[in-house]
Amino acid sequence: MKVVAKVLCVLGVLSGPAFGQDVSPEAATGRGQTFAVEAQKFMVAVANPLASKAGYKALQDGGNAIDAMVVAQMVLGLVEPQSSGLGGGAFLVYHNAKLGKITTYDGREKAPGHATPDLFLKPDGTPLKFFKAVVGGRAVGVPGTLMLMYKTHLRYGKLSWKRVLAPAIALAESGFSVSPRLSKLISNDKDRLATYPDTKAYFFDASGQPLVAGHVLKNPQYAQTLRLIAAQGPAVFYQGEIATDIVKAVQGAKNNPGLLNLNDLKSYTVVERPPVCVLYRTYRVCGMGPPSSGALTVGQILGILENFDMSKRTPKTIHLMTEASRLAFADRGRYMADSDFVDLPATGLLDVQYLKDRAALIDPSTAALNVQSGTPPWAEAKEQAMDNAIEFPSTSHLSIVDGDGNAVSLTTTIENGFGSRVMARGFLLNNELTDFSFVPEVNGLPVANRLQAGKRPRSSMSPTIVYGPDGKLKFVLGSPGGSRIIGYVAKTLVAVIDWKMNVAEALALPHFVDRFGKVDLESGPDQQDLATALRSMGHTVNVRDLNSGLHIIAVQPHGLVGAADPRREGLVLGD
Ligand code: GLY
Repeated sequence: MKVVAKVLCVLGVLSGPAFGQDVSPEAATGRGQTFAVEAQKFMVAVANPLASKAGYKALQDGGNAIDAMVVAQMVLGLVEPQSSGLGGGAFLVYHNAKLGKITTYDGREKAPGHATPDLFLKPDGTPLKFFKAVVGGRAVGVPGTLMLMYKTHLRYGKLSWKRVLAPAIALAESGFSVSPRLSKLISNDKDRLATYPDTKAYFFDASGQPLVAGHVLKNPQYAQTLRLIAAQGPAVFYQGEIATDIVKAVQGAKNNPGLLNLNDLKSYTVVERPPVCVLYRTYRVCGMGPPSSGALTVGQILGILENFDMSKRTPKTIHLMTEASRLAFADRGRYMADSDFVDLPATGLLDVQYLKDRAALIDPSTAALNVQSGTPPWAEAKEQAMDNAIEFPSTSHLSIVDGDGNAVSLTTTIENGFGSRVMARGFLLNNELTDFSFVPEVNGLPVANRLQAGKRPRSSMSPTIVYGPDGKLKFVLGSPGGSRIIGYVAKTLVAVIDWKMNVAEALALPHFVDRFGKVDLESGPDQQDLATALRSMGHTVNVRDLNSGLHIIAVQPHGLVGAADPRREGLVLGD
């Protein structure tokens, strides 16, 4: 493994005030690896060094990308508990080298069978405040991550199920050093974390103080949970004693109990779905379709940009990207949701002529005052209202390529930082149901992403795999960051495809994201000039921290090159 392409000059500007503007405790607090890494055979790019090392070891021991994924996920659930784990959900985009085939697995949480569309409405019909909905049992959906890990490992894994759980068990028993990022996030969220006794006992020390960086944290309950899962498989989680404790924690959550019951857990399934792919320039960009809006919205942005010369990074091309993003987000809000429950014009939303027509709405030098959803070709058109779902940044992403050329792009989440703040058996439970629209209808029209029993909340997670002009695997990437994930991934693709940046430069590049008519702009070397240029085109610009957590691997003729987002604590390792 060797280190290449130092980009410290770019990174120097990312060390501004790391916290404060973001209401989510998931905002960035640390700086990570600042260079690209090169390897010949295999590579892991994961958000925490302990998880990277465990995944890397699995590959060294003869495991494949799926084995390394399970190992890394189980360790992430311990060392980065605020972002993902057994209590959450995930989407996997998987390139199977032997078959030359790409597929996706949906391990998204599901709404309980007794949930009704008014779950997040107050008695007077107005929506609950976001954190009133988040903290407690109310927003806990049926977790899918474990079933996704188990099913894909059963199908593709080379190492034993016990072996892939062993590193997390050992680390939970011996203890791990709380990272600066985790410590900062605990401190920022201490009031909410203190709501529930089990959660408080875990994240605070004996004197009642939030855990500090360097504290050695053991999690014997998590170790015992994993031991049971290693011995009995997912049944103990979805039907056995762990299921009982999850239900007890959700239904017993003080002040805000939830509806999840044993039947909900027992009936959970992971769904294999076809990938959603678009052609951008000469690259085929594939990702996760509904219930994620990720690949459709990234695909719309790219499909609109396809109509412009994007070869240089200038205020004008950044303007084009923000306008394309607004158009795509307008369609996302109206049409995108769990397609098992609502009709969705998936093909129409990516129709080349439709996106050309949408591109024609962009004024190349002036920001649009008003952006509306379009009318994609759609046989079963139905009138739907705009969605107002809030998504705060959180989540984790890992990218892996193994020695056989298989690739894993996994984005994994418990939704908000520390999820529902409710713990069971050593892991946090998600609050994924807040990814539904709190309001089920507007002026008598249904919102596509309204809550319905058994439905999966719309996601923005965008695990992505890209094929080059020769049809061969080229990039594996994704990011956390709530609905800004879409912008982070789309911008990274433009950076590596149009601007020909290397992967570390692409990740370090300051972000700009416009979803609903305001450009969020990250501090950077040319931020002042860029802000001025965008404002002169009529944009509202808000300079702020933008906490992506991109992990990317590029397949080059001479080997693999990977990078971790310098805004977080990730590590790339390879051989
Ligand atoms: N909860 C974050 C997402 O699914 O997009």
